Amino acid sequence: MYSIAIDGPAGAGKSTIARAIAKRIGFIYVDTGAMYRAIALYFLRKGVDGHDREAVAAGCPDIRVTLDYDSEGKQQVILNGENVSGSIRTPEVSNMASLTSAIPEVRASLLQLQRDLAATSNVLMDGRDIGTHVLPQATLKIFLTASADVRAKRRYDELVAAGTPCSYEQIRKEIIQRDKQDTEREIAPLRQAEDAVLVDSSDMTIDQVIEAVIREFDRVKGQQ
Ligand code: DC
Repeated sequence: MYSIAIDGPAGAGKSTIARAIAKRIGFIYVDTGAMYRAIALYFLRKGVDGHDREAVAAGCPDIRVTLDYDSEGKQQVILNGENVSGSIRTPEVSNMASLTSAIPEVRASLLQLQRDLAATSNVLMDGRDIGTHVLPQATLKIFLTASADVRAKRRYDELVAAGTPCSYEQIRKEIIQRDKQDTEREIAPLRQAEDAVLVDSSDMTIDQVIEAVIREFDRVKGQQ
């Protein structure tokens, strides 16, 4: 089995890049952020405070997150039997996911599922701790990043294109806040694995990033 791990901060373009590459090379794309988002949605709906470690840990045994793929191969996230894929992209869920994903019981509840997926299929998995923690033996590890300004601008442009009113400054503030939470947490913090290839996409187009990652994959595959 081959596995490609793509980690990096919020808004670096991981999912766009990962989805396109997975399609091109026929791998299953696993968006682990969506799993953390589904858990965050569960706690938001229950009215649990994301800072309340005990309450979040106590709720974990009642949560079952699984993945499914629709007829076009797009990942669907199932929370206790309900497809919640359409409800997990709001700023509230983003912020809650950043908080609850720092809680050990939440991470433990997803780890085995993520490893099982990689054990049974060729996967391209993106997240924060895939190369450092989930798949330490991944065939290729990429750390995809871009400056906070560029990431905020991309998110802003996306929202404007979708007709969603928003403020660039607010988005930039939220991105910096999430970076801080994701990199400073005690368990599985966001960091570049020692053997990961750093790709800074600040001045690259999507196609250039895709080509760079595929080139790296061909190179490491050739070495095996
Ligand atoms: O990639 P995303 O924005 O959908 O992720 C949402 C949150 O989930 C992010 O702030 C941190 C957390 N996350 C994580 O801790 N580990 C992962 N492998 C993926 C996401």
